[in-house]
Amino acid sequence: MTEFAGKRALITGGASGIGLATARKLAQQGARVALLDQHRDATDAAAREVGGLALVADVRDAAAVDAACAEAASAFGGLEFAFLNAGAGQVAALHEYAPSDVERLVAVNLLGVYHGLRSVVPHLRAAGGGAIVTNASCSGVHPTRGEAPYSAAKAGVIALAQSAALEYGPAIRVNCVSPGMIRTPMSELLFEIPELMDPFGEAIPAARAGTAEEVADVVVFLLSDAARYVTGHNLVVDGGLSLVGGGIDPVMRRVLALLAARKD
Ligand SMILES: NC(=O)c1ccc[n+]([C@@H]2O[C@H](COP(=O)([O-])OP(=O)(O)OC[C@H]3O[C@@H](n4cnc5c(N)ncnc54)[C@H](O)[C@@H]3O)[C@@H](O)[C@H]2O)c1
Repeated sequence: MTEFAGKRALITGGASGIGLATARKLAQQGARVALLDQHRDATDAAAREVGGLALVADVRDAAAVDAACAEAASAFGGLEFAFLNAGAGQVAALHEYAPSDVERLVAVNLLGVYHGLRSVVPHLRAAGGGAIVTNASCSGVHPTRGEAPYSAAKAGVIALAQSAALEYGPAIRVNCVSPGMIRTPMSELLFEIPELMDPFGEAIPAARAGTAEEVADVVVFLLSDAARYVTGHNLVVDGGLSLVGGGIDPVMRRVLALLAARKD
């Protein structure tokens, strides 16, 4: 496949998980990819694997993100695509988060995407247009217990993508993905607790957690020409997880079980 032949893309959080899976797919389809991430060794290794450019920067640092995006545009002669994906999570009761942790979670997840947008847009405009995808979470659509700062920051990421879609169309499309429970290094700890994951797997319509590749496929679609009339959209990639337990679903689940029992 050569959909992205000769095109240039920048991916934040590109050294691992969903970012790296997206980098692999874009590179397989002919794109040159710049991977921006925070640790030198992991970023170099990922960039080597996909034949791309390693950029070491912390997305919380606006000047560092600016410099990294300028380096990518200069090395590639321009940029048409960006996947603003770097993020980090934590679990605690709302009142038990230290203020410094709240600030870190908002800085990485929300400000990091803001810095990415403000840095890549001029390069995409200079290239004559392009497409951006941001990575939020289904916790930003349906906020969860234990993730208050993360959920709030991710809700902001969806809003940012929509503001950017309004401001930068038609030359630049901006969409967002909101993954559900995806098995990556970020979520790996949860999978080591079988009593957490077994009932959860049964409950979701897809009956399993997702993979980084399954989110990457959706990101690549949103960046591609197949999505040329899609902008400002938040695409939930969760195997149906966020439907479960919403609205009157818990009641209807019991109604269905009662009806089935009466038939027997
Ligand atoms: N895994 C899931 O279940 C899940 C669900 C919903 C949303 N997400 C979102 O998907 C995105 C990717 O997560 P993943 O699951 O691939 O996790 P991951 O931990 O495998 O990858 C995240 C990457 O972001 C980088 N990163 C974190 N903070 C950074 C910073 N300050 N500066 C630069 N890079 C930084 C990390 O070094 C890492 O390489 C995140 O935004 C995450 O919130 C993940």
